[in-house]
Amino acid sequence: MTDFIHVFQPPATAGGPILLLLHGTGGNEHDLVPLADALLPGAGVLSPRGQVLERGMPRFFKRLAEGVFDVEDLKLRTTELADFIAASAATHDFSTGDVIAVGFSNGANIAGALLLLRPDALGAAVLFRAMVPLTPATLPKMPATPVLISNGKMDPLVSAEETERLAALLRSGGADVTVSWQHAGHELTDRDVITAREWLAQRPAR
Ligand code: MLT
Repeated sequence: MTDFIHVFQPPATAGGPILLLLHGTGGNEHDLVPLADALLPGAGVLSPRGQVLERGMPRFFKRLAEGVFDVEDLKLRTTELADFIAASAATHDFSTGDVIAVGFSNGANIAGALLLLRPDALGAAVLFRAMVPLTPATLPKMPATPVLISNGKMDPLVSAEETERLAALLRSGGADVTVSWQHAGHELTDRDVITAREWLAQRPAR
């Protein structure tokens, strides 16, 4: 199994939720850790570093150009990440259903790919500035998996149309998708964090 350089912090209470933190291009496993407590106090953290290097910048999968993804690489990396989550669950004694992905940009895109290709790896997902990562040959089954997409109205990289296409794709697999629009570009804002915190606090209990 592929191992990932990562940070793991157990939840405050055994059986509590685990935030799978997935950084953006050029980030690392430490980037989103300070957000965890603001998003869901007491949650555990599993924060891997992407294994692709683009001119020295870590990412979770290869791209051919800005917004144009290497789909074969994406599929492979998604499988590796799903297997890493399952192995971490066994090592640290948590259930993959208690895993909530929180991804930004490239991290949101691999979280979207996990939902579309390996929905068993996650219980819920928060996608900040997400694109359509790929269109799977067969639609996944993710009955009522809660998903928040928080995208920017002025994002030069992700259009409203692409955001709605992603929401529709996830909904067609059964996910319970909320789309939240921020008055922002591609960068993460305080409003994103507040929106995600409120959404996480009232997400359906498993
Ligand atoms: C990025 O810079 O990470 C892109 O906007 C998204 C991606 O390549 O996955």
